[in-house]
Amino acid sequence: MDANFETVTVKTDVLILGGGMAATGAAVEAAYWAKKKNLKVTLVDKAAMDRSGAVAMGLSAINQYLGLDREKNTIEQYVDYVRRDLMGVTREDLVYNIARHVDGTVHLFEKWGLPIWKDADGNYVNEGRWQIMINGESYKIIVSEAAKNALGSDNIYERVFITEPLVENGKIAGAVGFSTRENKLYVFRAKAVICAMGGAVHVFRPRSTGEGLGRSWYPPFNTGSSAFFTLKAGAEMTCQEVRFIPIRFKDGYGPVGAWFLLFKAKATNAFGENYFVTNGEELKKYAPYGTGKPIPACLRNHLGMIDLFAGKGPIYMHTAEAIQAIAEGESDPKKAKKKLKELESEAWEDFLDMTITQALLWAAQNIEPEKKESEIAPCEPYFIGSHSGASGAWVSGPEDLAPKDYFWGYDHMTTIKGLFAAGDASGASSHKFSSGSHAEGRIVGKAAVKYALENADEVAVADAKIDAAKEAAVRPLKIWEEHQGLSSDPNINPNFIKPRDFMFRLQKIMDEYAGGVSMQFTTNKFLLDRGMELMEMLQEDSEKLAAEDHHELMRAWENIHRMWQAEAHIRTILFREETRWPGYYYRADFTEMDEDNWKCFVNCIYDPEKKEWEMVKREILSIVD
Ligand code: FAD
Ligand code: ADX
Repeated sequence: MDANFETVTVKTDVLILGGGMAATGAAVEAAYWAKKKNLKVTLVDKAAMDRSGAVAMGLSAINQYLGLDREKNTIEQYVDYVRRDLMGVTREDLVYNIARHVDGTVHLFEKWGLPIWKDADGNYVNEGRWQIMINGESYKIIVSEAAKNALGSDNIYERVFITEPLVENGKIAGAVGFSTRENKLYVFRAKAVICAMGGAVHVFRPRSTGEGLGRSWYPPFNTGSSAFFTLKAGAEMTCQEVRFIPIRFKDGYGPVGAWFLLFKAKATNAFGENYFVTNGEELKKYAPYGTGKPIPACLRNHLGMIDLFAGKGPIYMHTAEAIQAIAEGESDPKKAKKKLKELESEAWEDFLDMTITQALLWAAQNIEPEKKESEIAPCEPYFIGSHSGASGAWVSGPEDLAPKDYFWGYDHMTTIKGLFAAGDASGASSHKFSSGSHAEGRIVGKAAVKYALENADEVAVADAKIDAAKEAAVRPLKIWEEHQGLSSDPNINPNFIKPRDFMFRLQKIMDEYAGGVSMQFTTNKFLLDRGMELMEMLQEDSEKLAAEDHHELMRAWENIHRMWQAEAHIRTILFREETRWPGYYYRADFTEMDEDNWKCFVNCIYDPEKKEWEMVKREILSIVD
């Protein structure tokens, strides 16, 4: 392929990177404020916004909604729920800020056309205390349409992959990327930049191999671009150790929330023992978090893992029992029969709305959920700041809520001036999910416009810096062109490595040394040190990634981004000498939770000039009793 690329320079005031939940929220809000002040807002997505990111397939619930009755569900209670779920390590000011805005966002979704389940009295149907049910197959199209209407099509660049940031003297100046379809390099120059490029998947070796390769719970197109972008800009990062391991229906990765919360299903080991009961004593070790309700997500995993690792698997979700129990609640047999049919279709719809593969797998394996239980299992680890993980950039809290040390001028701005983060990209503010990510997007959208107004001068960037970023963006194509003739197999060559093989190497290191599935999520200092050694060699080889075409160029860069997420993770789990989130990972050399020494945030900062990493502890400052 001809690697001669045309350079397209785009000047804007506010640049939104990503087209997912946080980015579409940012677009709607930023466009509103920018219009009043005659500013320009531009959005860049590596895919087509209508179906990009984690909500591509749709969703079946909105997992953060507080409800209008603020007596019943207070913001403080939500903060407490998140704090306990994350074993005490959370930025309460950020969680509070999102929680107080999220309901307005949900009402916008409904106004834009999202069908939300209603009961006979017209109230939303709750799945759990904070979750409401939706018919969400078209969720992403609906929020994307609102963003498109707000921005106008001229200000949206789809199928442009962002490679790296442009930064000068601690201030953001823009970003560089390439078209995944045409020979075009993009140089975006902006006063404020919002990073919202999702979390990271396939950093660890997945459970799916061979014919199932690529299947994961979180979407394979979330490849660590947010973590890379903020790290490479020099921003302080937080909770890089707090990976998320969800329990999911095995191999199809169907979510469990509706089963546990709506259908009140039970999970047991193969011997019929309810591990929440039989292993319940274990929770006392993790007081005060483990002894509260609901049990934190990592500890729910932990209780199941105790049995799995003891050879008592498979773990089953008793779908049939749950459905029968609800239907039997109807005394009239006719009504009970109708209820059974309704529940059966809700069970299928839950997956058809958001994890179609799981419905296909049920069909393929002759599983009728009303008749037969299903296997559930812990997935491979993911990096996702919006769910029950917490990794992301360290951002400023809002002035009215944030303790002094957590406030540096603009809501949810990173430690790099003018660079904002939202959704999976911002850390220590878990349990945002789709609605909270959109709400956080709106918060940063408004703050970024304010920043662009108050910092109206363009940040100058040396031409050499831009040229270097452009050269790096297309380097894998050049390497391919130069060396492809040397071997008959396009994937094997002494001068380069292809993205697929590179990804396998990364995943093997992470799996075997950083506590992946095959190691039962367990690691120690020696394994991590060795993992870092192997990572350094992988980093050297990343300079030799080769790409045959635009698509493979994207794959090459996705893996560079994953590699940085991986390094931040290894460094952080190595630094924190305790096991605070059993069920997410275990340090075999520090098996206990250590409240005296490690009830703190662990943050890391990469210095792009010196090319050095720094690890720091930051105090947890509480704002809610
Ligand atoms: P995303 O929405 O994933 O958006 C990331 C965006 O960045 C995408 O547009 C992507 O194309 C773009 N991007 C990535 N890299 C680049 C790059 N290099 N250059 C340019 N663009 C890039 N939440 C709920 O509320 N309820 C649920 O029931 C629920 N169920 C879920 C079920 C599944 C199967 C999954 C996968 C997620 C579920 N979630 C649910 C979680 C929810 O989807 C996420 O919390 C939310 O989407 C996170 O928003 P985000 O904007 O950070 O990331
Ligand atoms: S989803 O994002 O893919 O839908 P999941 O099904 O795990 O995730 O969870 C949906 C919601 O239910 C989340 O708010 C999660 O914290 C909550 N949840 C799931 N299982 C349980 C459980 N056993 N107890 C309490 N809350 C749960």
